[in-house]
Amino acid sequence: MKNNMTAANLRSAYGGESMAYQRYKVWSKKAMDEGFKNVYRLFNAIAYAEEVHASNHFKAHKDLEGDFLVPSMAGFGIGNTSLNLDKAISGELFEVNEMYATYIKVAEFQQEEGAKKTFTWAREAEKIHADLYKEAKLAVDSGKDVSFNEVHICSVCGYTTVGPIPDKCPVCGADTTRFVTF
Ligand SMILES: [Fe+2]
Ligand SMILES: [Fe+2]
Repeated sequence: MKNNMTAANLRSAYGGESMAYQRYKVWSKKAMDEGFKNVYRLFNAIAYAEEVHASNHFKAHKDLEGDFLVPSMAGFGIGNTSLNLDKAISGELFEVNEMYATYIKVAEFQQEEGAKKTFTWAREAEKIHADLYKEAKLAVDSGKDVSFNEVHICSVCGYTTVGPIPDKCPVCGADTTRFVTF
């Protein structure tokens, strides 16, 4: 870690992911209260993926110790599950299209390989999160729970799938034993 801008981006991403974790935990309970058990499971699983991202960003920043103010994008509010899914979708898309898209370019330019890797892993998962939340929102808006139930998360990179657990994580290459099921 040699460059200030990539370091600041790692801290901001760490802050954003940490708050996403908490926000999704709150929204998962709200989904449970409204009777959407699978949406509860989805928020809970994705919260864990964000925790994986936050800890990877934190570790990538390990050479720079100290106290820092951390600005990062954060959605606030507890609406109903449809509104919460809306906010979740826009947060994920912001990360995919703006935040990680540019953080990866900066890390590349500054030859910060560790940061580039953790940003890239996160961005790949966020694309899937946006799609899964969109599917959940369609179901909830028609008065139903989303149809998938088990959600599998790679504990190394946060890759997320509602299909079968892959032999090898398509993002980081970790084997099946590293997946956690919600
Ligand atoms: Fe996400
Ligand atoms: Fe992975």
